[in-house]
Amino acid sequence: MKTRHQMSSVWFAFFLWTFLWAVQPCAAQTDLTGYWDIRAPNPGGDGTFRDMYIELRQNGEQIEGTLLRRPSGISITGSFKDGSLHLETIPPPPPTPVAGSTAPVRPPQRRLIFDGTYQDGKLKLTSQSRNGVVSSFAERVTKEATLPPAPLPLAALRDLPDNGLARTPPMGWNSWNKFAGRIDDASVRAMADAMVSSGMSKAGYVYINIDDTWELGRDANGNITSNKKFPDMKALADYVHSKGLKIGIYSSPGPKTCAGYQGSYGHEQQDAKTFAAWGIDYLKYDLCSDLEIYKDDAPTLQAIYQQMGQALQETHRPVVYSLCEYGRAAVWTGWGEKSGGNLWRTTGDISDRWESMDRIGFSQIKLASYAKTGHWNDPDMLEIGNGGMTADEYRTHMSLWSLLAAPLIAGNDLRAMTDETKSILMNAEVIAIDQDPQYKPVISVSSDSGIEVLMRSLHDGSVAVGLFNRTSSPAEAQFASSSLPANFAGKALNVRDLWQHAPVTVNGDSFKATVPTHGVVLLKISAR
Ligand code: GLA
Repeated sequence: MKTRHQMSSVWFAFFLWTFLWAVQPCAAQTDLTGYWDIRAPNPGGDGTFRDMYIELRQNGEQIEGTLLRRPSGISITGSFKDGSLHLETIPPPPPTPVAGSTAPVRPPQRRLIFDGTYQDGKLKLTSQSRNGVVSSFAERVTKEATLPPAPLPLAALRDLPDNGLARTPPMGWNSWNKFAGRIDDASVRAMADAMVSSGMSKAGYVYINIDDTWELGRDANGNITSNKKFPDMKALADYVHSKGLKIGIYSSPGPKTCAGYQGSYGHEQQDAKTFAAWGIDYLKYDLCSDLEIYKDDAPTLQAIYQQMGQALQETHRPVVYSLCEYGRAAVWTGWGEKSGGNLWRTTGDISDRWESMDRIGFSQIKLASYAKTGHWNDPDMLEIGNGGMTADEYRTHMSLWSLLAAPLIAGNDLRAMTDETKSILMNAEVIAIDQDPQYKPVISVSSDSGIEVLMRSLHDGSVAVGLFNRTSSPAEAQFASSSLPANFAGKALNVRDLWQHAPVTVNGDSFKATVPTHGVVLLKISAR
C-alpha cells in the first residue's frame, strides 16, 4: 500500500512528465536562423576536420538556407520539427560544356543530406558520404567567420628565371587518383619500394608525390605541420631519397586546399623553406580556395603563382614547380612559365573513365605548340591500372600523353600492377617519345569521324604516328607517306609498331590498319 504522500509524488511525476512531453515541441521551435560552421571529420582517420559554413533561415518548422560556397552558394531546404532537423542541398544543374573547349567540365554536384538534433546550442548531425555515415556537429558563428580572408597584397609581376629543371616532362607517381585521402607514411614508403622493385624507376619514373590530405595546421611559429598520417616528413623524404627517388608534396596558395586542409596563404616563403628543409623535390600548387579571394585573370594568377615560384627559387633547392589551376586564364600562353612553372594543368580533373580521358586528351593537340623544354602542358595524371578503362583505352591514354609530351605521373597502386598495366606504363619505346630530348609539338594529320591521326617529329629525324579510334566499333585508319616531313622525301621507310614491338611492312604509299574500339596503333617511322 502506498501512502498518500507517495501517491501524490507519483501523480506529481506523472504530471511533470506529461507537461514536459507537451512542451517539448516548444523546444523544437528554437530558432536556428543564423550562420553555422559544420565541422565534419575528414575521411582517412587523420584527426582533421573540414569546415562547411551554412546560413539558415527558420520559418516555423520550415528551414531554408544556403551552403556558403564561392562564387555562389548552394540552396538548402529542410525542416526542424519535434527536435529533429533535416537539411538537404539543392545542387544546381551542371553547366553545359562548350563544344571544343578545354575548360574544366565540372561533374554534377552531389546532394548533401544532414539529419540531426539541436542540443545545448549545437547541432549534432549525420550525413551519408561516399565513405559511409559521417557524424559531425555545427556551432553558431558570425557572418564574418564564414567569409574568406581579405586579400593580401600581391608582389609586382616579374619574369622568374628558368630553374633548369624538367628538361623532359616529369615522370613519377602521385597519390591522388587512386588513394585520395587514404594515403599515409607507410603507403608512400611502400610505393617508393614498389617503384623500384617493379622496374618503374628503371623505366624513368622518379618522383613519389604526396597529394592533398597530409596537412594538419600551423605550430606556434606559423610553420606548417603534417597530420598523424605523416609523423615525420623529413624522415619520409630521407627514405624516398635512399631508394634513389625524389619526393614531391602538395599545397595551395589559398587558406585551404581543395580537400579543405591547411594551405600556404600568407605563409608562402615560410612553407617553401619548410619544404626545402624536409628535402622536397617537387611541389604541386593547387589554386583551390585562393579563387575565393582573388580574381582569376592572368595577371592575378601570375602574381599568385610567382609568389611561391620565387619563394622556391630563393631556397636554392631544385624543386620542380607544378601549377594546378585547371587551365584557367590560358596559363599556357605565357604566365605559367613567367611565374616559374615547370608544368601547368591545362584542364579540370581527370577520372578513370574513357569519356574523361578521351575528352581531355584529344582537346590538347591545339595547345602542344605552347609547351617547351622545362615548361610543359599538364593534362592531369595517369589513370592507367586503376581499373575503369580497358587495356586498349589505357594504351590510348599512354600513347596520347606521350605524343603530347605530357608529364607521366602514374596514379595507380604500384604494389599491385598486372602484367598488362606494367606493359603499358613501362613501354620503353612509348616513353622515349614522351621523353624525346628535342621537343617538337605533335600535329594533327587528319581528324575524321572519330579517327584521329597524330604525328610528332623526334630528335633523330624519325616520327611517331598515332592512329586513334575514338568510336565505339573497330575502324579502319590510314596514314599516307605523303604526310611525312620533307626529310623523308624519296627515302625507303622503316616502320615499327610500338605496342606490338615489331616491324611493320608497308605496301604502297599508305599504311592502313584496323584499330580496335577506343584503341590505338602507334608507329615509329624512320628513313632508311
Ligand atoms: C584538385 C586537383 C586534384 C587533386 C585534388 C586534391 O581537385 O586538381 O588533382 O590534387 O585537388 O584535393
